[in-house]
Amino acid sequence: MPGLTLGDTLPNLEVETTHGKIKLHDYVNNSYTIIFSHPGDFTPVCTTELGMMAAYADKFAQRGVKLLGLSCDDVNSHNEWIKDIEAFNNGHKVTYPIAADPKKNIIKQLNMVDPDDTQSPSRALHIVGPDKKIKLSFLYPASTGRNMDEVVRALDSLLKASKHKIATPANWKPGEPVVIAPSVSNDEAKEMFPQGFDTADLPSKKEYLRFTVV
Ligand code: BEZ
Repeated sequence: MPGLTLGDTLPNLEVETTHGKIKLHDYVNNSYTIIFSHPGDFTPVCTTELGMMAAYADKFAQRGVKLLGLSCDDVNSHNEWIKDIEAFNNGHKVTYPIAADPKKNIIKQLNMVDPDDTQSPSRALHIVGPDKKIKLSFLYPASTGRNMDEVVRALDSLLKASKHKIATPANWKPGEPVVIAPSVSNDEAKEMFPQGFDTADLPSKKEYLRFTVV
């Protein structure tokens, strides 16, 4: 069983957090929400990651996106750890809640367990849509800290693709051309993208790689 994956509905768990009890669906409400797990409190990479999330909190808020951290210790431990996170990360305040999971029940239900060590959480990250479905997941081992620029970039791609019939190509960054979805015919594309589009001239002469700016 792969566990919770793309397209699945986030289980509506009640979780203890540093901001009190939260029902996951109430927390998501109508917003995109990033839920990210950590192996444990007072560990080095996690301290840098949660601090970086705090430093990036404004970028997520500008996009209307909520954050929810998770670490497999209790709320008292989280509250002590937050002092270290803020001190190490130039005083950036941890304004988002951190869920507690000392019994490691939540990580199992959210598919955040390291498959190599089923007693440990991995560095998992789910982006949940306003419909409470999983839109994107990262699964990193404990040894690899996540790149928050990549989280923002992937989020921007998701948000753009939710508004237009497009996809974002390799190494895409906001402001760069996007590709028109293969399901859109050239006639439809002319109406949908009045700004125009460029079709790559490929050896196959198939017109499937069409770039536009939205
Ligand atoms: C860390 O956060 O640095 C870490 C946590 C668990 C295992 C390995 C590294």
